[in-house]
Amino acid sequence: MKVIICIPTYNEKDNIASTIDGLEESFKKIPPRHQLQILVIDDHSPDGTAAIVSEKKAQYGNVVLLPNKEKKGLGAAYIKAFKYAMEKLSADVVFEYDADGSHQPQYIPGMIKVLDEGADVVIGSRYVQGGSMPADWGLHRKFLSYFGNFIARFVLFTPQYKDMTTGYRGTKTKWLKQLDLDNLFSKQFAYKIQLYYELHRLGAKIVEYPITFIDRSQGKSKFPRNNIIDSLKVVFKLRLRDSQKLIKVMVVGGIGTLVQLLFFNLLRLKISLSLSQNLAIEMAVISNFILNNIWTFKEDKFNLKEIKKLLVGFIKFNILSLGSIIIQNLVLLLGIKLLGRSFLAENGLVLTGILLGLIWNYLMYTRVVWKK
Ligand code: GDD
Ligand code: MN
Repeated sequence: MKVIICIPTYNEKDNIASTIDGLEESFKKIPPRHQLQILVIDDHSPDGTAAIVSEKKAQYGNVVLLPNKEKKGLGAAYIKAFKYAMEKLSADVVFEYDADGSHQPQYIPGMIKVLDEGADVVIGSRYVQGGSMPADWGLHRKFLSYFGNFIARFVLFTPQYKDMTTGYRGTKTKWLKQLDLDNLFSKQFAYKIQLYYELHRLGAKIVEYPITFIDRSQGKSKFPRNNIIDSLKVVFKLRLRDSQKLIKVMVVGGIGTLVQLLFFNLLRLKISLSLSQNLAIEMAVISNFILNNIWTFKEDKFNLKEIKKLLVGFIKFNILSLGSIIIQNLVLLLGIKLLGRSFLAENGLVLTGILLGLIWNYLMYTRVVWKK
């Protein structure tokens, strides 16, 4: 495998030399069938980091410097590095690696072995057995890291992963190539959460490998002030993107519920209870069909031009709603026997029936009516 260790730098003149030296030392323990290179992407550091990298380039044969004209954020730097590694250096694996000494090079051979044995992504994890946080990190920073991870795993439904914000990881490029790297939601640190999640969604095999993360000894952290907000934005944007259909079906169902209650209450004292319920249900069914067709499932929608298909779709939709209709009728009829007739009881029972029927509806919509 061709493995490229990508190191983004911004003002790391006191750290970059020892970081490169440490990595070169660790490379000696890696089987010679693997080829290793270091790619430093420097955002025009005013402290002269690039000049030190150039010296290292002369000392070792496998160091590449990729200078960036300006500082656009950690995510932007990594995306540029990944593309360069894939296109110009034909990388099979890219590593993300900090320049400040926080990531220890001794883990590289073990992490490469994990990839060699079949993992697609290896995560240097502080939260699996054997991993740890820097002992001298302030409570504030520790809490942020725990909290950030908790929110990400909870909202993204990925509790099986323990460290979604770690900066130390290796990824097989055949997976990265399947992603739209130019349009990630963040150009800053939060790109890490999205990348982790997208790789998971693609079905990559992700293995967390325990690391001890140590605090930087020199220089200042570039952890952005707005990182919490930015990370939350990324996490919720991803959830929204991937739950769009479910959310839309819920909104449409909510509108349908209002339509149904409106008609039910207009009719309930004028005609029989059952008839008013079922007429109201049909109004809701029509509202749901129209809104789902033009909004939720608009990519697969039935057209007015193909009136026959539209009618078949509508009839199918009605038949499939039968399950929910039966549930609703049963709830109302049995409920009335128990509670007697009153505005409150009837409306409460109609609502209960709708909620119970909802689960049925969602399954039917996605599995039968708008099935691709
Ligand atoms: N090129 C470039 N551009 N490099 C940057 C930029 C940037 O805008 N911002 C930071 N870096 C480089 C730093 O020079 C360092 O090599 C590395 O990225 C990490 O930056 P730090 O400032 O040391 O980050 P940190 O220690 O606060 O955060 C670490 O832990 C986080 C998890 O708790 C990093 O590993 C993060 O990636 C990780 O999310
Ligand atoms: Mn750091």
